[in-house]
Amino acid sequence: EYKRRKEMLRAHELAAKYYNHILMNTEHGKLGLRYLEERGISRTTIDAFQLGYAPDAWDVLRKFLLKRGFAEELLFEAGLLSEAQNVKGRYFDKFRHRVMYPIHDAQGNVIGFGGRILTKEKDSGPKYLNSPETPLFHKGRHLYNLHRARSNMRSEGRVLVLEGYMDVIASYQAGVQNVVAVLGTALTSDHVRLLQRNVQEIVMMFDGDAAGQKAALRSAEVVKDAEVKTRVATLPEGLDPDDFLKKYGKDAYVRAIQDNASSMTTFRVLAMRKDFNLSTDVGREDYLKAVIQTVLTEVTSPMELEKQLRELSEEFGVSVDALNEEVRLAKKSAPAG
Ligand code: UTP
Ligand code: MN
Ligand code: MN
Ligand code: MN
Ligand code: MN
Repeated sequence: EYKRRKEMLRAHELAAKYYNHILMNTEHGKLGLRYLEERGISRTTIDAFQLGYAPDAWDVLRKFLLKRGFAEELLFEAGLLSEAQNVKGRYFDKFRHRVMYPIHDAQGNVIGFGGRILTKEKDSGPKYLNSPETPLFHKGRHLYNLHRARSNMRSEGRVLVLEGYMDVIASYQAGVQNVVAVLGTALTSDHVRLLQRNVQEIVMMFDGDAAGQKAALRSAEVVKDAEVKTRVATLPEGLDPDDFLKKYGKDAYVRAIQDNASSMTTFRVLAMRKDFNLSTDVGREDYLKAVIQTVLTEVTSPMELEKQLRELSEEFGVSVDALNEEVRLAKKSAPAG
């Protein structure tokens, strides 16, 4: 089993080198190189992230790795090959016609890939194709760029958690390097454990679109018991960190992280507003009750609770005492645990 894992790691390392070689040195790779150039990615950054290109062909990687003695079945289990639907035992390259982003584990071993299509055609499959769950890769347990970001995370005492590959790469290229990305999921408790070993603060900055807000909310649920300080920075106008950096530059980006990031509690309090009609008395009352029930009963710091109640009191014209009493009642009627 250990030997098999080692083999899979070696196959991934070779595959990353091969995809990078195709990108940098071959005619096929020019398409990928042009794509990355158009997105403002420098050669230095391509090198740093070991980006690559999988050509528009069925078995380039397969042939390359078979020649080096790997068994097809192992490569399939490692997620590098796909099996033909109607011909069992017949394999072909999983990643084709895509820019390739190697994913590393905390030790810096390549354990998987994300591959981005170049076109906008809908029939070319998902925008990003990722390695499936394999003995090496579990998306709920790995974070993109963790091994590269770790020393910066430690020296800054803080990590920025973003959504996408390109967000991490753009941030890194702009000089903000304490960044990692979740890979198409919300943050998991495994992710939080990995992060809080290295930092005192986690700042999440998800896309300013519906999907990003949803992921941020789900992540907020997960980090609420974290041992470290957690905040959420929100981005305007449907932008993601990569878009935001392009449009407003590094200084505004750093400000968005440092100044515009709200506490997880504030984020949850504000996020609940969209479910209520705050222009009616009934809607406002229902909102306050819901916020108290689901968010404020979980606030353990008396100072934080008071700050939240004071803000709600001012905005909704209800006394802090009355809100406090609601919190007390909600706690009493909540099921134990
Ligand atoms: P986004 O749709 O926000 O993509 O998904 P993006 O990162 O901004 O990508 P660009 O800028 O268009 O290249 C956020 C992340 O969700 C995962 C990827 O990790 C992506 O970076 N995702 C998204 C997938 O795994 N598959 C998809 O088809 C789409
Ligand atoms: Mn693992
Ligand atoms: Mn998005
Ligand atoms: Mn995005
Ligand atoms: Mn993007």
